[in-house]
Amino acid sequence: MKKHLFKLAIIALLAIIHMSFTTKTSNQEHTKKEVPAEYQNKENPYKNDASLKMIGLRNFNRHCVSCHGKKGKGDGVMAKNMKTLPGDLSAKYMEEYTDGELYYLSFVGIADRPDFMKLIPEEEAKWAVVNYVRALQDQ
Ligand code: HEC
Repeated sequence: MKKHLFKLAIIALLAIIHMSFTTKTSNQEHTKKEVPAEYQNKENPYKNDASLKMIGLRNFNRHCVSCHGKKGKGDGVMAKNMKTLPGDLSAKYMEEYTDGELYYLSFVGIADRPDFMKLIPEEEAKWAVVNYVRALQDQ
């Protein structure tokens, strides 16, 4: 009888641990981030330009995957050691951002990240990454 109770207690404990993990990753509230006005309506000169797909892919793999993961799910190798989780770039809520806002958040906006304005200097390559991030939302 005692053994049985012990087993139940272990199962309950495991369930609680499991729940606390799943709420951390899947139910995380998303708050739209503030973007300065000048970026909100910044025009994407390469919108729907399919010829930039490989440039976007290459730059995303080189500069973003370590934190954001291959599909942008926020499961890159560096993500688990970070205080702020990178979030899910493929989530529905990302559609709320304009291309200009994505540009800002990807290259300028987040303080504890490398300065991507310098690391990806070409405008064309930056917009290629924005287009690539946009496409992650359709997968
Ligand atoms: C060092 C890890 C790291 C790298 C590398 C990185 N990011 Fe991030 N990124 C983050 C973190 C952490 C956040 C969330 C910050 C927060 O919520 O305050 C974030 C947030 C974002 C957001 C906003 C998402 C949202 O939920 O509002 C976008 C867009 C983004 N990153 C794009 C990129 C792109 C594109 C690259 C590559 C050019 C990149 N990031 C490289 C860590 C990283």
